[in-house]
Amino acid sequence: MTPKKVLWQALSVCCLALPAFSFAQSVEKGPIVVQGAMPIEAEHFAARLDNPKEEQIGGWRFWRGTIDGYPVVVSETLKGMSNSAAATAIAATQFKPAAFINQGTAGGHDPALNVYDIVLGKYSVNLGAFKTPHKLKGEGSDSTQWKPMDLLASKGSAGEDKNPHTIRKFPADPQLLSVAESVKGTYGKGKVVQGGIGSADIWDSELDRISHFHNEYQTSAEEMETASAAQVAAQFNVPFIGIRVLSNNITNNGKYDPKTGLACQDYVYQVVKAYIAKIESAKK
Ligand code: 5AD
Repeated sequence: MTPKKVLWQALSVCCLALPAFSFAQSVEKGPIVVQGAMPIEAEHFAARLDNPKEEQIGGWRFWRGTIDGYPVVVSETLKGMSNSAAATAIAATQFKPAAFINQGTAGGHDPALNVYDIVLGKYSVNLGAFKTPHKLKGEGSDSTQWKPMDLLASKGSAGEDKNPHTIRKFPADPQLLSVAESVKGTYGKGKVVQGGIGSADIWDSELDRISHFHNEYQTSAEEMETASAAQVAAQFNVPFIGIRVLSNNITNNGKYDPKTGLACQDYVYQVVKAYIAKIESAKK
């Protein structure tokens, strides 16, 4: 072989091996943290862990265990943006996780989605961070006129900044998204689609407001935790994805069904197993 060919072969081996190597490096050892806000969104998953040990940190419950011999922590974040931010920061510092999966129930923004359909969050947005236009006394209030406010813009006064009114999107980690997509075939209770997840400490039941979010920010569903956990996970540089099942959808009269939360945990269990298999094969 000519020296040129040897060099070429060595380079191509490196290029092929590098992505798998760096993936294995980045996820080595740390547990996968599976988050659920309410007991019915966490306990079912915790019961599927091998050798689970419950631990209380502040007001938050965690269960440490394993799946297929790999460490997994289930975190009951409690409801809402503040609780999920705090639970994510605690998990990031205490457990040094390889990944976060925030999962649970959500309300549909897309009339094409039904109760039991699952949204793999391509990204999430904070639907509670807006600037209102100036209005005089008696001019009323219309939340569809509000413009997004970027909470990560650290300089200047949020009310005065002149930034373009594009909403901050927290993207899913591409590897987690592709693994979540790869187990679609295991789900028999509805569709599994990729979409945007909107989060705020608000339960929206105004159809005009819901379609405004759906049209402006391409939200498929809303809930109260994902964007907040995603924001904090990004600060700790931990790969993140939100996976939500529709428990209700008032855009097409989809009635609330709390059992959807169990179906979501079963789906996420398949995602976790597939992600563990990917980690283990990248190590070889
Ligand atoms: N709007 C807001 N939150 C919802 N949840 C389920 N459906 C909705 C909805 N339509 C989730 C939230 C929160 C709890 C109330 O259920 O994430 O944890």
